[in-house]
Amino acid sequence: MKVAIGSDHAGVTMKSEIVPVLDELFIDWEDFGTKDEESVDYPDFGEKVSDAVSRGQADRGILICGTGIGMSIVANKVPGIRAALCQEDYSAKMSRLHNDANILVLPGRIIDKEKAKEIVKTWFTTDFEGGRHQRRLDKIKEIEEKQK
Ligand code: RB5
Repeated sequence: MKVAIGSDHAGVTMKSEIVPVLDELFIDWEDFGTKDEESVDYPDFGEKVSDAVSRGQADRGILICGTGIGMSIVANKVPGIRAALCQEDYSAKMSRLHNDANILVLPGRIIDKEKAKEIVKTWFTTDFEGGRHQRRLDKIKEIEEKQK
């Protein structure tokens, strides 16, 4: 599995804290920036990661900003993206089981690094359940098509 990761300045520390979890899970990752705490605009990095996932250059993505809200808004504008903002383990698990989320969004200024690592581990080790949930995802796809 290949994962695209990105953050703004408010998520850059958390990004460096969670990549060891990806390494532990033998997940291949690419950092799309930003690289330091100099102020940047989250849409620039949210778009890069979402675009990579949408085009199949990455299987999944991780985005981090201060609250996770800005990155969620950006990512869910990109066709085929199902981005889930998770602050605890239960949402991380359900976003995979029921929503087949393909981008995990984390709030760098809200949760601590241990919580973030737990969420990442759960998110990458939980599979989509399919069944009735696939029907719901198909409906989301239909909405996307209608808006074109
Ligand atoms: C940056 O200050 C902050 O606005 C951003 O990281 C994010 O929280 C936006 O939703």
